[in-house]
Amino acid sequence: MRAIYRNYNPVINVISTLLIFSSVIFPSLLQAEETLSLNNGQKSYRWYCTPCHGVKGDGKGFNAQNLDPRPTNHADTMLMEKRTDDDLFNVIQGGGKAAGKSTLMPPWGKTFSKVQIDSLILYLRTLCNCQKL
Ligand code: HEC
Repeated sequence: MRAIYRNYNPVINVISTLLIFSSVIFPSLLQAEETLSLNNGQKSYRWYCTPCHGVKGDGKGFNAQNLDPRPTNHADTMLMEKRTDDDLFNVIQGGGKAAGKSTLMPPWGKTFSKVQIDSLILYLRTLCNCQKL
């Protein structure tokens, strides 16, 4: 108990209280919006996908070096034009496991609604500059 008390840091306490309150007052800061749009897809991608897939979608996020297989390069047109939008939806919603791929690709079905996943797909299509051939 005493150790915990000594480690009590009022600055951290204030900061975390502010964070909790701001997320209640401005939920849009943390939650993806429910409108189908490229912009919303980009925001979700920046927040949730770039640690592994990289800011440019090239698969070189800061976490990528810890993963085997490596995160997919979403800017790889040759690869991404082989995927239908349904394929992308399936792997985003259910994770790598649902698509017979690496389980290091997490499932996002509890984080994002269908519309939010569709927005992510709109953004993915700009990273590869491609559609399904
Ligand atoms: C913890 C790291 C991690 C995060 C975060 C992550 N991914 Fe992935 N993702 C992976 C890995 C690893 C693979 C490669 C799976 C494989 O090839 O077996 C992958 C594969 C994919 C694929 C499959 C490409 C194909 O071959 O069909 C898509 C699409 C994808 N990710 C989208 C996303 C989106 C969208 C997000 C954010 C909502 C995201 N990923 C977040 C690690 C991650």
